[in-house]
Amino acid sequence: MIIAIDGPAGSGKSTVAKFIAKRLNYRYIDTGSMYRAVAWSAEKKDIDLSDENAVGQWVTQLKIEFVADPAGQQVKVNGENATGLLKNEVVGRGAAKVAAQKRVREILVAKQQEIGESGNVVMDGRDIGTQVFPNAELKFFMDADAEERGKRRYLELKEKNLDVDLENIIAEIKQRDHEDRTRAISPLCPAEDAIKIDTTKFAIEEVIDKVMEQINLKKEIQN
Ligand code: DC
Repeated sequence: MIIAIDGPAGSGKSTVAKFIAKRLNYRYIDTGSMYRAVAWSAEKKDIDLSDENAVGQWVTQLKIEFVADPAGQQVKVNGENATGLLKNEVVGRGAAKVAAQKRVREILVAKQQEIGESGNVVMDGRDIGTQVFPNAELKFFMDADAEERGKRRYLELKEKNLDVDLENIIAEIKQRDHEDRTRAISPLCPAEDAIKIDTTKFAIEEVIDKVMEQINLKKEIQN
C-alpha cells in the first residue's frame, strides 16, 4: 500500500507519518527533506538559489539517500550525512524557493516515484496525493489554523532552548503557506479523494487513531 500524507508545515503530518510507518513496518519518506537537501547543498556550493538553470543542473547530479538508523532515519546528500543540518529556518526558506522550480520538481518527483515503486511506503509532503502518487491507496490531507501551527513550532523551538517569538513564527508560517499554496507548479492543495483531517483541536494521539482507523478499514476492504 502507498499512503500519501500531505499538508502545510506544522499540521502534524510528519509526526503522524513517522508513527504510522513504524506501526505498519513501512518505509517513511519525508519529501520536504529532499527539497531542503537541494537548497542546503546548492547553497554550500555557492549556487544562487534563484538561478533556475544552475539549480536545475545541480539537482540532476545530486544523490539523496534515506538510511535507516536506530536514532531515526538519516538523510545522506552526495554521501554526506546532512540530517541535523536540514531542519532550520534558513534551509526552509531556501527549500521553498527551489520547490517552486520546474526542473527541481520534475527530478524530485521522479525520485519519489522510484522510491515508492516497491510499495509499502508512507510518504509525506505537499503534492504526494496530487502529483507523486495520484493512485495511492490512501491519501490524507492534514491542516490546522496557522495560529495553532505556530504555537506547535514555538514550543518545539523553545524545547531546544532557542530564543523565539511566537508572533514572528505565526507570520512566517502564514508567509510560507501563501508561497506553497499560490506557486504556479504543484501548489499545496488537497487531492479530491484525500481524507481531510483538521488537527487544530486534536492531540497527536487522536489524529493517529483517526488515521489508523482509516488504514484498518482499507485493509479490511482489500481482504
Ligand atoms: O515540509 P518541509 O517544511 O520540510 O518542506 C520544505 C519546503 O519544501 C516547503 O516550502 C514545501 C516544499 N515541499 C514541496 O513543495 N513539496 C513536497 N512534496 C514537500 C515539500
